[in-house]
Amino acid sequence: MSFSEFTLDENDSKKKSLSIYVHIPFCNSKCDYCSFVSMVASPEEKHRYVTNLMNEIKLQSKNYREFYSVSSIYIGGGTPSCLDNYYIRDLLSCIYKNFAVKNSAEITLEINPNSVDQTKIREYIMSGINRFSIGLQSISAKVLKSMGRTHSLTDYKKTVDIIREFGVKNISTDIIIGYPNQKLIDVKETINYLIKLGIPHISAYMLQVEKGTKLKKLVDNGSLGVPDDDTVVKMYDTVVDILTKNGYKRYEISNFAKPTYESYHNKVYWKRKDYLGVGLAAHSYIDGTRFANTENLTEYNEKLEKSFTIPTKYSKTLTTEEKKEEAVMLSLRTCDGLDLDAYKNEFGENFLAKKKDKIAELIKNKFLILTKENKLVCTNSGYLVLNKLVLELVTN
Ligand SMILES: C[S@@+](CC[C@H](N)C(=O)[O-])C[C@H]1O[C@@H](n2cnc3c(N)ncnc32)[C@H](O)[C@@H]1O
Ligand code: SF4
Repeated sequence: MSFSEFTLDENDSKKKSLSIYVHIPFCNSKCDYCSFVSMVASPEEKHRYVTNLMNEIKLQSKNYREFYSVSSIYIGGGTPSCLDNYYIRDLLSCIYKNFAVKNSAEITLEINPNSVDQTKIREYIMSGINRFSIGLQSISAKVLKSMGRTHSLTDYKKTVDIIREFGVKNISTDIIIGYPNQKLIDVKETINYLIKLGIPHISAYMLQVEKGTKLKKLVDNGSLGVPDDDTVVKMYDTVVDILTKNGYKRYEISNFAKPTYESYHNKVYWKRKDYLGVGLAAHSYIDGTRFANTENLTEYNEKLEKSFTIPTKYSKTLTTEEKKEEAVMLSLRTCDGLDLDAYKNEFGENFLAKKKDKIAELIKNKFLILTKENKLVCTNSGYLVLNKLVLELVTN
């Protein structure tokens, strides 16, 4: 069934909105910095996983189909495009058959520049993909090599050209800033290249040196040094400055978009709306409960094969205090900030009155502003110390 054949029944428009995240835990090779749940796997392992993933989708649909219609789907990883293309088609067909997916749904696929070709992209688009997120990271061949990436800038440009040939404009690109040996000029050139190419959505992530990665070992044994804080701040400020001057809006600390290209799916996470994660290690938030699947591939497969049950690892219904903390933490990441009226409606509490002295100090020190719409929003300096700032606001 192709996406265009799919129809909703009349009652679906009255249902609550759900977003679905699908995790594909496979990559063609592992990048030095990456701690995402992803691995290199054989065709048999991939086939077994996708079969079980579809079984999980069917099981989960029994819990949610009746109450929800789907507003966005995000197939991420890992590298979803390292699967043979019919798997993405089958996965999407399985979702369309088992959930009510809105015709307007944003459907994103994460791809690596050297794991796609014209046939694959055509098939993805015919299956309903209407947004692509490409992991470029940097245009510098030297930086890409030191990250353990296997693609070139030419691969990236070819991928963008193919997607556009098929008429899809909604393209996002990931870059990393603050990598060892990366210079400010590399970051500037990467951003300017993406602007010139007219990429309407850019995610610029500050490097996190994650436990268990090859990069962490190299940094710990002194083989590589990360740029100092001042350099990273300068890189981030440069990204913000160049992008905003060129018509992009920073709608979240790491996400920049031209008008109409903000990602609906991304915003669901920060607005604490309902999303269902399926697949290995996938996280969900539904009706105030956070839950996640096992990160162990064998356990994931066996649970679905032997007992036909969902391999949930943990589940926690948030207390009101935890919800309040999340509201502050997630909203301050975004340009909309913390809506004090919405906070009062949800929790029956005046946040401004409760944290009066702390907020006044943060505003005085130019980390926060209070808008005339009664929203607390981070300044650029605030974004740079976001974790500390949130901690100060949520601790009593
Ligand atoms: C889950 S990855 C998947 C995307 C795709 N596999 C790729 O790498 O091209 C999404 C993005 O997270 C970012 N990322 C991964 N590990 C990171 C780290 N340790 N620090 C900062 N950004 C990271 C990269 O920009 C990457 O493109
Ligand atoms: S960054 Fe992307 S390609 Fe690299 S290991 Fe992580 S998920 Fe795979």
